[in-house]
Amino acid sequence: RTKVGVLISGTGTNLQALIDQARRPSSSAEIVVVVSNRPGVQGLKRAALAGIPTRVVDHKLFGSRAEFDSTINAVLEEFGVELVCLAGFMRILTGTFVRKWNGKLLNIHPSLLPSFKGVNAQKQALQAGVRVAGCTVHFVAEEVDAGAIIVQEAVPVLVGDTEDSLSDRIKEAEHRAFPSALELVASGTVCLGKDGHIEWK
Ligand code: GAR
Repeated sequence: RTKVGVLISGTGTNLQALIDQARRPSSSAEIVVVVSNRPGVQGLKRAALAGIPTRVVDHKLFGSRAEFDSTINAVLEEFGVELVCLAGFMRILTGTFVRKWNGKLLNIHPSLLPSFKGVNAQKQALQAGVRVAGCTVHFVAEEVDAGAIIVQEAVPVLVGDTEDSLSDRIKEAEHRAFPSALELVASGTVCLGKDGHIEWK
């Protein structure tokens, strides 16, 4: 099975969906370590409850992005990680890190990319007045929230939606999209081609 490291910054509901997926006997993935840049977050408790080793790499304790990223990289290597999932990880990774993990680094974003990149994607969707929102799992490229798309799921925007109600609906979709994208990549069904586009085997 493919050894997976998950990077988080918070609640970890997506992490939980990945844990539940990787527990299935049919899964091609095994989560070997969870790394958080914030101490004490709920995602760390979820990992511990599932018996997965955890590490905190607090970005506030580092003088530069490069040092922070190389510490994360060292943890991933220590655990023999082959595939990395960013599950609500709210730090932007350096080009060096992204190039090192090219084709092995997945991110989930709460919009139908390429719409609404960056922070507050749900708020951006509400402000734009779109009637369809959703989530995207993609390979990470150096440009933020770009990179080849693996899975997307759409959800409706309903009359009276708030940022919270829309975020909750998107999260339900995320909890299906991320596990299925993980399986596609961990099983080798999908990979990142040399031209930066997705290849299906
Ligand atoms: C998710 O909605 C994810 O799409 C978003 O953070 C949330 C994490 O929730 N990620 C980003 O905005 C990345 N820029 P979780 O901790 O419950 O999985």
